[in-house]
Amino acid sequence: MIALASDHGGYRLKEEIKKFLEDGGYEVRDLGTGDEESVDYPDYGHQAARAVARGECQLGILICGTGIGMSITANKVRGIRAALCHDSFSARMSREHNDASILCLGQRVVGTGLALEIVRVWLESSFSGGRHSRRVQKIENYEKE
Ligand code: RB5
Repeated sequence: MIALASDHGGYRLKEEIKKFLEDGGYEVRDLGTGDEESVDYPDYGHQAARAVARGECQLGILICGTGIGMSITANKVRGIRAALCHDSFSARMSREHNDASILCLGQRVVGTGLALEIVRVWLESSFSGGRHSRRVQKIENYEKE
């Protein structure tokens, strides 16, 4: 199950990504927002990040105007590693090296075609483990301080 959320600034791209995921056979949990009426991104990003942190969703994709607010919000939730990626190389690395569980995107930064390519690459990549496990473990240790 993939958690999906946006504010008004990411609503249109969220809808495109939802269709892309559903067409690809993924199960999606859409946590809003439901239209382009102005809302506050932390309310939506936090709920989606919580769903991933609790294990109700395995991965999450969060969209706002820039992706920045969503990434800051999601990374406040314990255990979450959210990556803001606007190119497919970073998207792949965020899975392989950082074991990111949330992808953040900015609707005002990338076009739909690139965004969907980033989503595809991100979902098809997986954690490499090895030396990267030690580094991810250190993030978790520092988070507990
Ligand atoms: C909303 O105008 C905008 O600030 C928001 O979508 C996002 O870009 C924040 O980081």
